[in-house]
Amino acid sequence: MREQLVKLVEIIPIEFVVRNIATGSLTKRLGIEDGTVLDYPLVEYCLKNDDLGDPLLSREHILAFKWMDVFELDFIYEEVRRINDFLQGMFRGVGIKLVDFKVEFGRFETDGKREIMLADEISPDTCRLWDMRTDKKLDKDRFRNNLGNLVEAYQEVAIRLNILHEQSNIRPLTYPKPKAVKIKKK
Ligand code: TMP
Repeated sequence: MREQLVKLVEIIPIEFVVRNIATGSLTKRLGIEDGTVLDYPLVEYCLKNDDLGDPLLSREHILAFKWMDVFELDFIYEEVRRINDFLQGMFRGVGIKLVDFKVEFGRFETDGKREIMLADEISPDTCRLWDMRTDKKLDKDRFRNNLGNLVEAYQEVAIRLNILHEQSNIRPLTYPKPKAVKIKKK
């Protein structure tokens, strides 16, 4: 029987983005050339607020407005760097560059002690993944930039990671165009 332990957390209202290669909003914001390999991983913080367009924050903003304290901030900074190291190695092993990703964290109490844990998915929806040799995009940018073959790209990642059998029969859903209903006059 499959089991899953689920913990209820209070989500910290910050998105943590780690970048190894400049692309996406970073290149638009700062005019950096797309595909520039960064000397070391760049950690960015964005406020989780759709109405404001998830604005970029500094550490000082986070502390000034008490979205986190300095211990939480330092802890999560180290955690996202570790997650990046792990994921980079894992993807490199299957011929994929981890360009960047976003994760969120949550707080919970255990034995009266406050703890923080990763509370997010890690998938081609939340990471940028490029083929090592060709730079082919194997992530949600295929949808964002209308490149097509989204499902095939996600399957490619899963097959390379050996978590989807090559013969799996998953296809994109296709819906017929909605037709106008004709109402017969009496
Ligand atoms: P960005 O270049 O658009 O800021 O995105 C950086 C990374 O964060 C990229 O891997 C996509 C991911 N991301 C999300 O998962 N959810 C979001 O809402 C945003 C804005 C980015």
